[in-house]
Amino acid sequence: MGEEKAEPSAEQLAAPELFNVRSMRDSDHKMNPERLSGKTAIVTGSSRGIGRAIALAMAREGANVVVNGREENARTVAEMIRNAGGKAIAVIADVAAEEDVHRMVEETLRVFGSTDILVNNAGGGGPPTLVEDIDVSAWEREMRINLTGAFLCSRAVIPEMKKKRWGRIINMSSQAGRSGSELAGIIYASAKAGLLGFNRQLARQVAPYGILVNAVAPGVILSGERIEKKWRKRADAERQEMLKAIPLGRLGKPEEVAPVAVFLASDDASYITGAVIDVNGGRFMM
Ligand SMILES: NC(=O)c1ccc[n+]([C@@H]2O[C@H](COP(=O)([O-])OP(=O)(O)OC[C@H]3O[C@@H](n4cnc5c(N)ncnc54)[C@H](OP(=O)(O)O)[C@@H]3O)[C@@H](O)[C@H]2O)c1
Repeated sequence: MGEEKAEPSAEQLAAPELFNVRSMRDSDHKMNPERLSGKTAIVTGSSRGIGRAIALAMAREGANVVVNGREENARTVAEMIRNAGGKAIAVIADVAAEEDVHRMVEETLRVFGSTDILVNNAGGGGPPTLVEDIDVSAWEREMRINLTGAFLCSRAVIPEMKKKRWGRIINMSSQAGRSGSELAGIIYASAKAGLLGFNRQLARQVAPYGILVNAVAPGVILSGERIEKKWRKRADAERQEMLKAIPLGRLGKPEEVAPVAVFLASDDASYITGAVIDVNGGRFMM
């Protein structure tokens, strides 16, 4: 019988450079360098911010990527992927518009032939507003982008996923939909909480077809101008107070959300569905 290899101790894991644990992990990783190779991923809202980081990370893992946004700058991200040797197209489409979503999925199938992974990332919200000041059109607009968009995109890709009996849907919720957030408004929090209900029920419905549906709930992630503006608007003392409430003591980066989406899209997550993964520096624990 061969000698059993001992598991690395806690000290070894804490100081990998001393114990060569990292190189052991690197070589493990090299056996499976591209976890998403042969898969096609539609990442909505990937022209900037968190979506962009996810699109780039998925491309690095070998996926064909569909970069999306309503503005032309989505093309720059697709080009960046292609220049680095990956495969990507850009589809300018509004996830809140049924005909746009249909076109995006048709284009994906035409170019890549499948829709294996969908990341419902497009979203965002306006500043917090008193409920009595919210008009119905603002309510409906924000709900449509953050919640209806995820429904429309999921509905459009599921038939192909069912045919292949393999699929991954990742819903970008928020801490605002889990517990509460100082930066979020009521419409946004309602939509992101609704997205978690959608996540659970859809996961149950499509599990028999090998389609896994999971959500990511980021805390405050410095993803670009939109969030930076909201953050800067706060008084210094208030910002310090908010940072104190985060056990890791800082805000997050898009590159810290992207690997979670990659993991959920990969076969490494084969027994996870209907789950919500918090990426918030420990701000909310459940
Ligand atoms: N940053 C955070 O702190 C944070 C925290 C929790 C959750 N999230 C969630 O994470 C996701 C990404 O956030 P982010 O901060 O990276 O946002 P962001 O920087 O504002 O980027 C949003 C992306 O979505 C696209 N988009 C917006 N509405 C769209 C629509 N109707 N159809 C298609 N694309 C649309 C935008 O492009 P166009 O403008 O060109 O359409 C852009 O690519 C959002 O769902 C957000 O709610 C963010």
